[in-house]
Amino acid sequence: MRRRSIKRLPKAHLHLHLEGSARPETIKEFAALEGMDVGDGVFSNLPEFIVVYAKTAQTIRRPENLKRVCRELVEDEAAQGVWWSEPMGVPQYYWERLKLPVDEVYAIMQEGFAEGTKATGTEVGMMAGINRNFGVDGLFGVNTVQVAEFAARNKGNGVVSFGIAGDERIPPDPFKPAFDVAHEAGLLVVPHAGETMGPGSVWSAIQTSRPNRLAHGVRAIEDLDLLKYLRDNQITCDVAPTSNLMLGVANDIELHQLPKLLDAGVPVTINTDDQTFFGMLLCDEYKLVRDTFGLSDYELAGMAKVSALASGAPEATKQRILQGIDDWLASEPDEDGVG
Ligand code: ADE
Ligand code: ZN
Repeated sequence: MRRRSIKRLPKAHLHLHLEGSARPETIKEFAALEGMDVGDGVFSNLPEFIVVYAKTAQTIRRPENLKRVCRELVEDEAAQGVWWSEPMGVPQYYWERLKLPVDEVYAIMQEGFAEGTKATGTEVGMMAGINRNFGVDGLFGVNTVQVAEFAARNKGNGVVSFGIAGDERIPPDPFKPAFDVAHEAGLLVVPHAGETMGPGSVWSAIQTSRPNRLAHGVRAIEDLDLLKYLRDNQITCDVAPTSNLMLGVANDIELHQLPKLLDAGVPVTINTDDQTFFGMLLCDEYKLVRDTFGLSDYELAGMAKVSALASGAPEATKQRILQGIDDWLASEPDEDGVG
């Protein structure tokens, strides 16, 4: 069957991590430059993955290399038909490593993003975030409220959302003051929840952080009341199918939680999470769910529309993406539906 090209479908990409989206060959180059060993990169669950991830992040230890990762990320997003990208950056990784204050770290990131945007037209809004493994008191004398304050003072200067990642066994409650700072500033709040832990973890993320979106959220399907809550409150789940397979959150793509979220009327977006490690680019993820669940172009367009609407993009950008999606639907199908 002829299908419309997924690359041509305008998309917002809302759940991706900065270092986890770096080109593998770039990371190899950095590791060689720094004389570092990033290990065998083997993982089968989230705690193991977090260790592997940190080793990769540690290879980015020069301002010019941080800037390069940011620029390449935007170039790679553009190649996937992404018009708006919302990568999560954890500035605490860099305060110590680059020996620079957070605002200078952020200025370097912004330069990289801006160069990518200038070259491609793909726009970026950063999700500033914290890693729950670092603890509430944070790292290097910088606590999580200070990260939220950094995010808050850069609302309107490139930061659009505030997130929390890391090991979901660490409960979100102690991070509440940081979420409150982010809400107060009008940032979107996007905790990771419902990935490796079940509905109880999602309910506590809801109570503690009053989320606008959830990174993952897939395990909400285990609780019908929770599904109803997500639908009624239009809390978007930024789903990353291959990540879920690789970290044991779904045992088989055919058994993935996505169709149940869609059937329940929960707003859903499709994402890569960490393409450096999981090997699937954004169009691959769309193709995977299209082919597995027999989704129509209208259903793919629906998820792409949710990605624009739920994003932190400026209104004009959202409207541009929505128009582009309608144009895509009005266009003739292509030969293979991917390229
Ligand atoms: N950091 C990077 N990827 C992550 C994931 N899938 N879950 C939690 N923290 C992460
Ligand atoms: Zn994630």
